[in-house]
Amino acid sequence: MRLRNRIVMPAMDQNNCNEDGLITEKTLQHYEDRAKGGAGLLILETSAVKWPDGATSKHQPSLSSDLAIPGLTQLAERVHKHDAHMIVQACHHGRISGLDISRDVSVLVPSIPIPSFDTLGMAINTTDEELLKMATLTGGKLPNFKEASSEELEEIIDAFVDAALRIKKSNLDGIEIHAAHGYLISTFLSKAWNRRSDEWGGSHENRTKLLSQIIKKIRENCGSDFAIVVRIDGQEYGIENGITVEEASATAIIAEKSGADAIHVSAISSSGTGVGFTDGPLPWEKCQYSEFAGRIQSVINIPVIAVGRIEPEDAEELISNNVCEFVAMGRQLLADSELPNHLINREPEKIRPCINCFVCVAQNFWNGEPVCAVNARLGNYDTKIENAKRSKNVVIVGAGPAGLECARVASNRGHEVTLLEKMESLGGTTLFSSLTTPKNGELINWFETVLKDSEVLIKKGFVADTDSIMSLSPDVVVIATGSGASKSSLKGSELKHVLTRDQLRSLLQKTRTSKIPQEIKKLNQIILWTAQKLGLLKDMRKIRKLSKFWMPIGRNVVVIGGGLVGMEVSHFLAERNRTVTVIENGPVMATEMAHPRRWRTLHQISLSGVKLHNNAEVIEIKENTVVFSKDGNEFEIPADSVILAEGIETNRTMFEQFLESGIETHIIGDAESIGYIQGAINSGNRVGNLL
Ligand SMILES: Cc1cc2nc3c(=O)[nH]c(=O)nc-3n(C[C@H](O)[C@H](O)[C@H](O)COP(=O)(O)O)c2cc1C
Ligand code: SF4
Repeated sequence: MRLRNRIVMPAMDQNNCNEDGLITEKTLQHYEDRAKGGAGLLILETSAVKWPDGATSKHQPSLSSDLAIPGLTQLAERVHKHDAHMIVQACHHGRISGLDISRDVSVLVPSIPIPSFDTLGMAINTTDEELLKMATLTGGKLPNFKEASSEELEEIIDAFVDAALRIKKSNLDGIEIHAAHGYLISTFLSKAWNRRSDEWGGSHENRTKLLSQIIKKIRENCGSDFAIVVRIDGQEYGIENGITVEEASATAIIAEKSGADAIHVSAISSSGTGVGFTDGPLPWEKCQYSEFAGRIQSVINIPVIAVGRIEPEDAEELISNNVCEFVAMGRQLLADSELPNHLINREPEKIRPCINCFVCVAQNFWNGEPVCAVNARLGNYDTKIENAKRSKNVVIVGAGPAGLECARVASNRGHEVTLLEKMESLGGTTLFSSLTTPKNGELINWFETVLKDSEVLIKKGFVADTDSIMSLSPDVVVIATGSGASKSSLKGSELKHVLTRDQLRSLLQKTRTSKIPQEIKKLNQIILWTAQKLGLLKDMRKIRKLSKFWMPIGRNVVVIGGGLVGMEVSHFLAERNRTVTVIENGPVMATEMAHPRRWRTLHQISLSGVKLHNNAEVIEIKENTVVFSKDGNEFEIPADSVILAEGIETNRTMFEQFLESGIETHIIGDAESIGYIQGAINSGNRVGNLL
């Protein structure tokens, strides 16, 4: 198989097949978009060889009968017409076969009893609503584990071969055998899970027998021009006796000898904890698995595909350093299907960045269809940009992600767009959040780049009111004024050392109208004035640096409210050597974050020394302390500064004023309802397409 470039889209469930696991128009559109976007190789999401047995969801592709062939054939046509190649990831999900559990079918594992791991780990920092949705996946049932017999394993090998023959008959280019991520083959490879003493267990060679038999038999039946890729775990985190990179290298050698054409190196955590999920299979760190890829590439002669938060510039380096021959980019191709074309056109700045928010994969926990925080088209193929029937004069107030997306879409459709922003920089609170989440800043930079190339007229430092907007003679007004802090009724909230997020923001970020607050100490006023004059408060990178040395915030900080804003602020302050305590009313912190990101963020925040108190209630803010109650006890803790990070409300005032004007008016983003980046981009895109 000869590919047009080295960019691979790895398997990512879309869960949009019909009730019989057959490909739908949505499936076709998703992959056709990415074929058009220029990727060399696409890998169809994990597909079940014995569907419904050994499957995670009814809506994943089935490979278990000839009924699958027409849909797969259409898929081949739709991607081949754009010169992309496509293979199918084939799997038996073993212990994670949700569809088996829900149908009271035993799930297959190599050995009974299964190793002990933290079965309740996923419940920590997870809301009741999320737990309920996860439970519906299996109808609330627990798995009944069964040690796979030799006959069952032989049947599974045959099912892989039949699946491969169907893929070949459909004109697709090959198969990826899923031997990673804790599914059946991966558990046979792992000493932790496979404690058998028959020919399928014990020695490393025996543990690889299931995999090597599948490879050999597919090769025998499908011939030499049918590509066979094998996905393995380069590391199994969080369990004793798990797969190591040395064992993974030995597995790769056996796979090569058995007839594999390439090895795709991922990883898994078997800890059972939520935070483990962002060790594997969805890495938190950049290039997290590249070391494993390099070790494996050094012992085999067939190409390695590396994966795991690899960005284009890293990909270039990994390939030139012989760490791997191909690079898979998953979430980045969900965020921007055109990524390869932008690189081919030497316009990397046009790539819409993935912000590592885990919104997409959160849906996998309850078999939902992934959506993307930055790409409204993912899973929603009606959002095609079409020219407007009549060009209108559109005025958008507020340049957070909602206003920016609306401006981009409306302008692409041929409207005349003016975007008004009261700050000196674009991005609203999303830009401020880039102090702790630099990826959010990259998203705003991307908007700046694409809007620079458009006809959108951007007016920064423009404090809009009804008159100034009317003077622009708009046909349509779009209000994207975001959210603000509601007035706190807490005792002591009026004290001088109490700040809202917006006050903290205006201390650090300069606006045309921002004044240095009189309440802060004289020395701090002088430093702020100097920083403003030196232009240090215009650029978030400079603020990030400056605030490491100096900040008008005391040593002991209490953050009231453990939502997204509270977490961002505490993380920011803890990194600047403040002693931070967060007090949250509810049982779970950061509920606005997709739960995999929340699991990781709360873990990292605790490691940075922030004390988190949930189910706690503030009684009073005093001059130097905060009094709160938790579990029936009262506590008083030191507080030089207090940040109010609760009570965020929509900012609808301007929208309501405009409704009277008779001009077509829309409201989007947090001004309409609090939905953060995903909600903002989604509503901006919807209204941009509607005008
Ligand atoms: C929404 C989503 C679904 C995924 N589904 C699969 C899958 O079906 N099979 C698989 O092997 N990996 C799956 N993965 C993992 C990806 O293939 C990839 O290994 C992972 O996202 C890390 O790559 P990235 O950092 O470039 O996104 C999925 C990831 C995402 C985000
Ligand atoms: S939802 Fe978030 S993590 Fe997933 S692709 Fe989009 S930006 Fe990336």
